[in-house]
Amino acid sequence: MSARKVVLVTGASLGIGAELARVFASHGHDLALAARSRDRLEALADEIAASGAASGIIRSGILRPIVIEIDVARPGAADALAARLLAEGASVEILVNNAGFGLIGPASALARDEQIEMVDLNVRALTDLTLAFLPDIRAARGRILNVASVAAFLPGPGMAAYYATKAFVLSFSEALWFELREEGVTVSALCPGPTASGFGARAGVHPGMLDSVRGLTAAQVAQAGYEGLMAGRRVVVPGFGFRVSAWFGRFAPRLLVMSFVARVQMKRRLPP
Ligand SMILES: NC(=O)c1ccc[n+]([C@@H]2O[C@H](COP(=O)([O-])OP(=O)(O)OC[C@H]3O[C@@H](n4cnc5c(N)ncnc54)[C@H](OP(=O)(O)O)[C@@H]3O)[C@@H](O)[C@H]2O)c1
Repeated sequence: MSARKVVLVTGASLGIGAELARVFASHGHDLALAARSRDRLEALADEIAASGAASGIIRSGILRPIVIEIDVARPGAADALAARLLAEGASVEILVNNAGFGLIGPASALARDEQIEMVDLNVRALTDLTLAFLPDIRAARGRILNVASVAAFLPGPGMAAYYATKAFVLSFSEALWFELREEGVTVSALCPGPTASGFGARAGVHPGMLDSVRGLTAAQVAQAGYEGLMAGRRVVVPGFGFRVSAWFGRFAPRLLVMSFVARVQMKRRLPP
């Protein structure tokens, strides 16, 4: 077994993933940061190393996170990540599957290849990474944090494929939690509501609507995710208002839920 036990965070270059990396680092965890933007990852690794050195809390004397520039949606990415970590003498104790994106608009109007690319990242890559690192995580009695969304609780006309990808993440995570609960491995689904990050611009949210997000900050979402994960909670929905939305999504009549979501997404969308 390798000496260096890391928290692997995908999509750590920006938004919720970068904040999750900061929270883990502030609690003394050693990190591996994965995303496509090397410059952003290097800058974050420097920042974490500097703050760890200043506070002296990073354990094992390892100060700088491992930086891995990778497109996690490409075939073979999980094996490439595992090989890179092995070469660094590291094994994954906690996996944070955070990389993901959304697309706003009716499924019939959005590009087919982009929607499939989203399913590839949000669903296939997340599943493959989980399965690839499960042996290490089980051996370490570690943890998995999968970033879903409040969208996971409801069908989402106007973002149909995105909501469906997050329903998969929630269902997969809860079932894994059940399968692994007696082995001392915890699995948590983090389900944020709208959060200011790079997400809106990538999804095609109207720029005028980006500032109208009245959700939590990415830092607040990350803090809630960390606390929920460490407490072994199966599902973590940060913010009281979003817990109400999740409840509404689960128990209100389906047609009512879909009319509501369709109206919201129509308003948020960039004009075609
Ligand atoms: N913001 C919200 O309103 C919100 C709400 C609920 C759930 N979420 C979920 O939260 C997660 C993080 O989103 P965010 O809001 O933080 O968005 P963000 O600011 O756009 O960050 C997305 C991160 O994912 C990385 N990424 C994207 N494609 C990737 C790929 N193919 N391979 C590797 N990394 C990739 C990006 O880095 P690179 O571009 O450098 O690769 C970036 O670090 C997503 O799963 C999202 O669905 C977001």
